[in-house]
Amino acid sequence: VRALRSAASSRGLYFGAAIQTATLGDSRFRASVARDCSVITPEWAMKWDSIAPSRNYSYGEMDQLASFAARNGLTMRGHTLLWHKSLPRWAASALASNRDWALIDDHFSKVIGRYGSQVREWDVVNEPIEPNHGGNGLRRNQFYQAFGEAYIERALESAKARAPRARMVINEYGLEYNSSYEGQRRLSLLRLLERLRSRGAPVDTVGLQAHLDLRKGNVYADGIYGMMRDIRGMGLKVAITELDVAEANTGLSIERRDALVADETRRYLDIVLQFNNVLGVSTWGLSDSHSWLRTQRSVANRGLPYDREWQAKPMHSAILTAFA
Ligand code: G3I
Repeated sequence: VRALRSAASSRGLYFGAAIQTATLGDSRFRASVARDCSVITPEWAMKWDSIAPSRNYSYGEMDQLASFAARNGLTMRGHTLLWHKSLPRWAASALASNRDWALIDDHFSKVIGRYGSQVREWDVVNEPIEPNHGGNGLRRNQFYQAFGEAYIERALESAKARAPRARMVINEYGLEYNSSYEGQRRLSLLRLLERLRSRGAPVDTVGLQAHLDLRKGNVYADGIYGMMRDIRGMGLKVAITELDVAEANTGLSIERRDALVADETRRYLDIVLQFNNVLGVSTWGLSDSHSWLRTQRSVANRGLPYDREWQAKPMHSAILTAFA
């Protein structure tokens, strides 16, 4: 089985995956990451609520992941500095009461200070889009409530000041399918990017999470193509950051399920990899045994390149072929 990262690099791309610190103890896991990946994303360990569940920061889990990356010559994606789902309670209440940006700067100084030398791309703001929240299509998250829309460019400036050579990423989901809601999400993202660019904010990359979902039909080629064209038109790079496929088609055979997952993966990558501003592709995990989708579905989802026994699945071949 050919390594995903060598196929990717033959296209000038990287291949990576999200890693849960807990799986570092599994030798099959370590072997597969070392063979297939040149970049890893901490699935949880670098998030604010993981690193600082209380005011004092504890870096143990993230240090384990960072030293694993260093030992194996892997760089990391900095996931993620600001996300409404990973703001610890103590920080949320501090923000709400005194709206002091120094709290944000302090967090960025600590995380970027400790791991920045290993991080090429920072997911500075994760999932800022929510068309149902109002005219500008932005989620009214804790940061928006404390600082207004400007929190996004302030975060980009704070991160850029601390990581001048890294890419500054806005990372988003729900952009792949042909529904009016996802069409609104694509539009809101493009409008945000245009506003940021017009204000000279240091955003240079868009993270497309690419959590594909067979229950939504097939990926909407025209919608994705149009969005990719507009992003390229703004001179921005693209990283595919969290690729996996929700299926849990219990009524079908394993072979059929795996074929449908492979087809959708290939369909999506064939569209986005036509664009030369794509930096690389990361899957959200490598083996079905540790997919977040297992906690979202009643049955074990089969939406990652390897099955639970670490056997490469048709999705693995689909990614290899898409890189060819
Ligand atoms: O490991 C700790 C355990 O020690 C502790 O006792 C327990 C108490 O809650 O938490 C455990 O951590 C869990 C962690 O996953 C383990 O990896 C957290 O509770 C749980 O919230 C966390 O869920 C992660 C979720 O983001 C929230 O951070 C998922 O693994 C992760 O797949 C998911 O990833 C997100 C991306 O960041 C953004 N895009 C969507 C994607 C899927 O939701």
